[in-house]
Amino acid sequence: MRIGLLGYGTVGSAFYAMAQEHAQTEVAALLDLKTHDGLNCRQTAHFDDILSDGGIDTVVELIGGLHPAYEFVSAALKAGKNVVTANKQLISACYDELISLAEANGVSLRCTAAAGGGIPWLHCLTRLGQTDKITAVSGIMNGTTNYILSAMTERETEYADSLREAQRLGYAEADPTADVEGYDACRKLVLSANIAFGVSIPEAQVPCFGISGITARDIAAFKRMGLVCKLIAHAEMRDGSVSACVEPMLFPVSGQMAHINGPDNLISLRALRVGVQSFAGAGAGGFPTASNVLADCLQVAQGCGPFYTRQRRPLAVDNDALKQKYYIRTADAARSETLTVSAAHALALRYKNGQQPFFMAAVAEEN
Ligand code: HSE
Repeated sequence: MRIGLLGYGTVGSAFYAMAQEHAQTEVAALLDLKTHDGLNCRQTAHFDDILSDGGIDTVVELIGGLHPAYEFVSAALKAGKNVVTANKQLISACYDELISLAEANGVSLRCTAAAGGGIPWLHCLTRLGQTDKITAVSGIMNGTTNYILSAMTERETEYADSLREAQRLGYAEADPTADVEGYDACRKLVLSANIAFGVSIPEAQVPCFGISGITARDIAAFKRMGLVCKLIAHAEMRDGSVSACVEPMLFPVSGQMAHINGPDNLISLRALRVGVQSFAGAGAGGFPTASNVLADCLQVAQGCGPFYTRQRRPLAVDNDALKQKYYIRTADAARSETLTVSAAHALALRYKNGQQPFFMAAVAEEN
């Protein structure tokens, strides 16, 4: 396999180093704005150099973001090159279009590192989907927010200080809004649900309520109740309709969730025959993420199909049926109330639009 590598940041440089260890994966060219010393490949600042190189059969996109990643990936697929990427934003936003391009051009598109970082989560969903019916996917899908919430719980720090620390340690995205408001977890949830359920749900229909409104007083109140707070993305397929959202959730201190701290992820699936399976590990970071990118390349080299699944039934998100107990805190007081997911997120939006203090967290039913 001759690879055109796009990007040489934390994940790109780790991928380059790991690809050197395998005879099948030769990085023939690197696209980056800067030139790097000591690399054993051609370096260019122009994507056309990679696109027009007939010897490059696979493009590994590790620049992230929507643009120019979208233009590069679609051009590569149209030119008959396989694409491996860690870009959850791109694949979640352009799901149908990019898979259709891969199918039409007889090439492969893989993005295992886009959800779960170093955990082979999407690969496991595909494998299990061949023998069982997956009915739910859920969990901690964002390392930055888990780091912030863990720090606030363990060290009783305020939100802003914990966010600064997460940024300093390199867990947060360049703009941490996507992490703290739940959009990053939402993109990973959409990919997971689409692959698990064989559907295509629009990202814009998945409500996200993040952790930017949480205070040290909320955390202290949760502690008194024997609970810890985690940002959870969850989707469930029931009677042909899908519910999906991202929201803080409260778990007992004695349960499994409470022990996933720092930037780690814990992602679970529920299926009819195998029951619940959980996967924990590094959800971010150079080498863990690069390891999934490299494993995707090796699968592509072995001739895998266009995408993880051929099924992508368009489906609207329906959050009207799922009812949960919520902790709700406004400027005046905190209360507990049972609401549908739709009603809870509509309430959150009203407070957000009115720029009034508000925080909510669903109370987990199990563990
Ligand atoms: N910012 C992301 C996170 C990186 O914190 O999980 C990995 O997708």
